[in-house]
This record gives sequence, structure tokens and C-alpha cells, in this order.
Amino acid sequence: MLQSVPLQRPFVSAGGHAFVAEIPVEARQALAAGCVGLVAEDGKVVGPAEALHDHIRAAGRGAFSVWGTHVYLSSTDYSNCNQNGRGYALLIVDVGSPALREALARRDDLVLDLLHRNREYNNSVVANFLGYHQVTTSHLRRHGLATPRAALELGTGRTPYTALRFLAAGVERFVANDVQTIERSWPAARLRQLAGLLDLVDQDAGERLRARTVPAADGAGNVTVRGLEIADRCPFEQAPIGGGFDLIFSTSVLEHVGRPRQVVERMHELLWSGGHVWHCIDLRDHRDFDRPLDFLRLTVEQYAAIDTENRLRASDWLDLFCDCGFEIVDRQYSTLRAGGKGGNADLVHASVPPATPWVDDALRATFQPPFAAMDATDLSILGLTVLCRKP
Ligand SMILES: C[S@@+](CC[C@H](N)C(=O)[O-])C[C@H]1O[C@@H](n2cnc3c(N)ncnc32)[C@H](O)[C@@H]1O
Repeated sequence: MLQSVPLQRPFVSAGGHAFVAEIPVEARQALAAGCVGLVAEDGKVVGPAEALHDHIRAAGRGAFSVWGTHVYLSSTDYSNCNQNGRGYALLIVDVGSPALREALARRDDLVLDLLHRNREYNNSVVANFLGYHQVTTSHLRRHGLATPRAALELGTGRTPYTALRFLAAGVERFVANDVQTIERSWPAARLRQLAGLLDLVDQDAGERLRARTVPAADGAGNVTVRGLEIADRCPFEQAPIGGGFDLIFSTSVLEHVGRPRQVVERMHELLWSGGHVWHCIDLRDHRDFDRPLDFLRLTVEQYAAIDTENRLRASDWLDLFCDCGFEIVDRQYSTLRAGGKGGNADLVHASVPPATPWVDDALRATFQPPFAAMDATDLSILGLTVLCRKP
């Protein structure tokens, strides 16, 4: 079933490129029943869907989010959604139709395509449940580090998929932290599906997830996983988290924190001696990955209006970890492949900084202080993955 429900003007400005529209009642009922809502501009579906509201404000270009009774939307060309004369509609797609599901499930090419797409999204089952554990632990294993006993993830996102995967791997205590609300219980069928997925890659982990599934105290008959603790709706640096950890980690989070020093100091406090931090930090301007350093052209005052990332460069992070008492164990740098612009497919990863920086003097001269005086190699680094030890 595909139904198009017009979104009525006037939209309320939500800052930057974002506008908010009320979702008509009939569409709300369909969404509550499990349908998916997509935004169309003049009949063409835009996206990305489920975008962070900060991203919609800063980047626009069709990013949207269906959020309770409202939808946050943006135009595809930075124009004002109230004044550009285009029609905006919410397309209601019933992906739950048994016939459609059956047809999709039989098409291996579509399944593979969907798995690949799912991997591109934050807080998704392929990226977070399967991918993050794999990437983090393979890096730890290269340094002889075993599965941690107690782990903490900053900026988990809405569904603590990474936590569930680490608990399935045998972690005893996992604290999931975010400034957003984090889910803490699920229908039993959802956990059974995740365990079934794990059976395909690691049967012990699948068994462990089933064995650790317990009734949740949510009064709704849902289940949760033993060992999972949620520290949500609070920035990590202020969260009331007790006890110690042997691993604190994050993916695509540290570039967003507003108080980097307090964050790294708090990690140091919470870690046991000999414990590790592992962080994958995306150093690009998130407004448009094809112009990954554009935000360095903005003065502090100009940037204050956007401020979705903290603009720290790779050397700033490495210095900060050392200043706060960490030893750097390993680092991986991401930079541009020849002829690349800045999207994920254009990045290459290496354990040494790029031998030939792609940032030249002409580009550097367009940056504001302090970036204009930074080393071109440092500026050429668009991503940093760092493993540090607390002595
Ligand atoms: C780009 S998302 C990444 C989410 C998840 N790690 C992933 O890769 O799917 C960044 C997340 O960091 C969270 N965040 C930002 N600042 C934070 C802070 N100071 N403490 C905890 N979480 C924070 C945001 O709410 C958001 O969920």
C-alpha cells in the first residue's frame, strides 16, 4: 500500500534548513500500525530519512525525520520550504504486507542491496549490531586484547545494538550512553530474530543472547538483556555512571561532543588501570561530505550558528588523549583517495598519515585561524581511529 498525504503549510521553522509540519491524523494511525513514512518534494522522494535534527538544520538538502506527531523536513536546494512553491507530502508505505515481504525475501539481489544500504545508516542492525562489534574487537585482538568484562559506549543512538552484540559476546556489564533516549526493552520476537541472525555468524553468541534475555520491568511484556545498563538523556561527561570499565568506545560521536576535554578526562576517571579507549572519529564537515573541510573556512562566530561538530583535527585529539594521561597504542588515519571528494567511498585508511597531503597551500589559505596555520598533512586527515591505554 502506498498512500500520499499532503503536508499543509505553513511549516514552522526549526532553525537552519529545517521546517516542521504536523502529520495528518490518518497518516499517524498508519505510522503507529508499523507503516514507514517518507517525504516527497513535488512527488519525488527525498532523503536521507531518519536524519538527526541537527543534520537537517545544518545540511538540509532533503534530509527529514518522522518524529512522533510531526515531520522535520528540508528542501533539496536550501530554499525555504514555506516559500518555494513546491508540494510536500508524506508517503505512507506499508512494508509489513506479507506478500511484499515474501517477494523481497526471495530476491537475494535485493536482500544484499538492502544489507549494504543498511550498513550506511547510523543505528542500524547491519552497521551497529554486526559491524561495530566486528570492527572494534578485531582492532583490540590485533593488540592481544580479549573481550572486555565491562564496557561503555558513548553516543549509542536510539537502539543499543552494539551493547546487545557485546553482551552476546560475553561482556558482563555494558553501559550504553547517549544524550537521546535509548530503548531498553523489546518484544521477545525482536530479540529472537537478533539471536537467530547471530547464529549465522557465531552460534555461541546467539545462544548467549538467548540465555541472557530476561523479562523487562516495563509492564508491557517486553524483554531486555541481562547486563545492559542505560545512561541516557545525559551527555557522557555529566552522566552519573558508577563502577569501572576496561573498555570505553564510540563510533562517529566524539566529533559532536561540545566539551572534548571533559569527555576525555571522564573516560580516564571511569577506566581501570590497564583499560582501553577506542574511538572512531569522523573529522569531516557533516553538512556535505563532498566538501569535507568547508567548515574550516568559517570564523568562530559564523560557525556558532551551525556548530554540529567541534572541528578538532586529528592532532588535537591525539594531543588531548596524551594530555589526559593516556598512552596512544594505535591509530588509523582516513584520507582522500586520488581524485576523491570526501564521501565514504572516497576515503582510504592507513596506519600512517598521508605521504602526499591533498590539502595544498591555496586551499589552506581559505581556512580561518587556527586552521590556516596547521600542518597540511594534519588537515588532510578526515578520520581518526585511535586505541589508547590508561597506564
Ligand atoms: C552520528 S550519531 C552516532 C550514533 C551511533 N554511534 C552510530 O554510529 O550509529 C552521534 C550520537 O552521539 C550522541 N552524542 C552527541 N554528544 C554526546 C555526548 N556529549 N554524550 C553522549 N552522546 C552524545 C548523539 O545524540 C548521537 O546519538
